[in-house]
Amino acid sequence: MANFAVPPMETIRVGFIGVGNRGHTAVRRVSELPGIEVAAIGDVQDVQVEATRQFVREAGRPGACHAYSGSAESWKAVCDDDGVDVVYIASPAEFHAEMALYALRAGKHVLTEVPGAQTVDEAWEIVETCEKARRHCMMLENCCYGEMEMLAQEIIRKGLLGTLTYAEGGYIHNLTARQLDNHYRNRGIMKPGLVIRRYGNTYPTHPLGPICLYFSINRGDRMERIVSLSSLSAAHSEFAAATYPADAWQNQIRWETGDVDISVIRTALGRVITLQLGMCTPRPYSRINLVQGTKGCFADYPPRVALSEVPGGESEWLDDKAFAEFNEAHKHPLWKRLGEIAREKGGHGGMDYIMDLRWSYCMRNGLPLDMDVYDLASWSSVVPCSAESDRQGGIPVELPDFTRGAWRTARPADIGDISDGR
Ligand SMILES: NC(=O)c1ccc[n+]([C@@H]2O[C@H](COP(=O)([O-])OP(=O)(O)OC[C@H]3O[C@@H](n4cnc5c(N)ncnc54)[C@H](O)[C@@H]3O)[C@@H](O)[C@H]2O)c1
Repeated sequence: MANFAVPPMETIRVGFIGVGNRGHTAVRRVSELPGIEVAAIGDVQDVQVEATRQFVREAGRPGACHAYSGSAESWKAVCDDDGVDVVYIASPAEFHAEMALYALRAGKHVLTEVPGAQTVDEAWEIVETCEKARRHCMMLENCCYGEMEMLAQEIIRKGLLGTLTYAEGGYIHNLTARQLDNHYRNRGIMKPGLVIRRYGNTYPTHPLGPICLYFSINRGDRMERIVSLSSLSAAHSEFAAATYPADAWQNQIRWETGDVDISVIRTALGRVITLQLGMCTPRPYSRINLVQGTKGCFADYPPRVALSEVPGGESEWLDDKAFAEFNEAHKHPLWKRLGEIAREKGGHGGMDYIMDLRWSYCMRNGLPLDMDVYDLASWSSVVPCSAESDRQGGIPVELPDFTRGAWRTARPADIGDISDGR
C-alpha cells in the first residue's frame, strides 16, 4: 500500500463518525472544500447528530447528510451507506481500530483520528485488512501539516540540516482540568475507588508523525526499538484535592499514571528519537519539534534554526530578523499560498485546514495520500510498545516492521503542494 493511489474522484462523499468536538468542526471545515459532500453523519448521541445536521442544512453544504444515531452500533450504518466513499472517524480513541476495520471491510476509504490503534494486534489487522481491501487508510495526524513542521520538512528536503541523526518531540499540553471535569467524555472514570494506571506514551503521534516524515520512516528507515519510563503520579490528585470537595468522584479515584513519560526510539539507520508526554503539568504547551543533522538544527517553541558552515561545525541560533527571512525563503508552498486563509479558517492555527485540503486534493487527483496504513500502524504501535517497556521498568521493546521489509525500497515521504502534483 506504499504510494497507493486510486483513480481520481470527482466528488468525495464523506461519512463522519463521532461528531463531538473534533468531528463537528471537521464537518464544518471539510464540507467547505471543493468536491466534498457530507454523505452521512453518525454518533451515539442524537443531540450531536442533530446539531451537525442542522449546521449542514443551514449552511447549505452539499450532500445527502443521512443521519445515524441512537445506539452504540449506529456508526456501522455510516460504513454500510452506499452513498459514502470515505469514512472520517473522530470518535474516542478506543473505537478507532474497530471502526476503521469495519469501514475497510465495507469497501470504504478511511481517515481516522489519532492514534489509529491501541494494540499491536489491532495495528496488524488494520494493515492486513487495508492491503486486502485496496483502500486508503490514513491517520489524520494534523501536526504533520503545522507551519513549522512543514518548514522543517522543506529545509530537510533541501539538505540544509545535512545527515539527520536525532529528533526530539513532545506533547506537553495541560489538560488536567479537562480530564477531571464532569463532562460526558469522562464518564468512564467517574467511578469512586477506581485506580487509574496507564503506562508509556498514550498519545505519541502529534510529535512523532512529523519526525517520522523528517526521517522518511517506512520509506528508507524504520523505527526498530523503544524504551519508555514514566515519572511518579502527583498532579491529578493534587489538582483534584485543590479543586473539588473531598467527597467528589474526582477525589475518590486513585491516580497512579505518571505525570510525565519519556520514550527513546532507535531507528534502523541508527537515528534516535526522544518523545515526551506531559498532559497534566503546568509547563506551557509545546510539541518541542527539534530535528538535527550534521549541518544544523531546527527547533520550535519558539521557532529557531542554527546552521553550520561545515558538517559537525559550530553554529548559533539565527536572531529573530534572520529567522524571519529564513522562514520566508523556505516556507512550504502550501503555507506560502494558503497561510492566511488557513489561519483564518483555524483548526489548530490552520494546520487542520491544510491537512483536509491536502488529502481531498490527493483523492480528487488520483495521487497517493501523504501518509499510508504503515504510518498509521507504526506510529500507533508506539502506544502499546512504550507501555510494555514502561510496565517492565524500561526494557527495550521491538517495534514491528509493518511494511515487512518494503521500507527499504519505498519512495521517500514528501508532502507536496496542491497545484503541481508534487
Ligand atoms: N488531532 C487533534 O488535534 C485532536 C484533538 C482533539 C481530539 N482528537 C481526537 O479526536 C477524537 C475525538 O475527540 P473529541 O475531543 O472530539 O471527543 P468528543 O467526546 O467531543 O467527541 C467524540 C464523539 O464520539 C461520539 N461517540 C462515542 N462513542 C461512539 C460510538 N460508539 N459511535 C459513534 N459515536 C460515538 C461521542 O458521542 C462524541 O460525540 C479522539 O480520538 C481524540 O483523541 C484529536
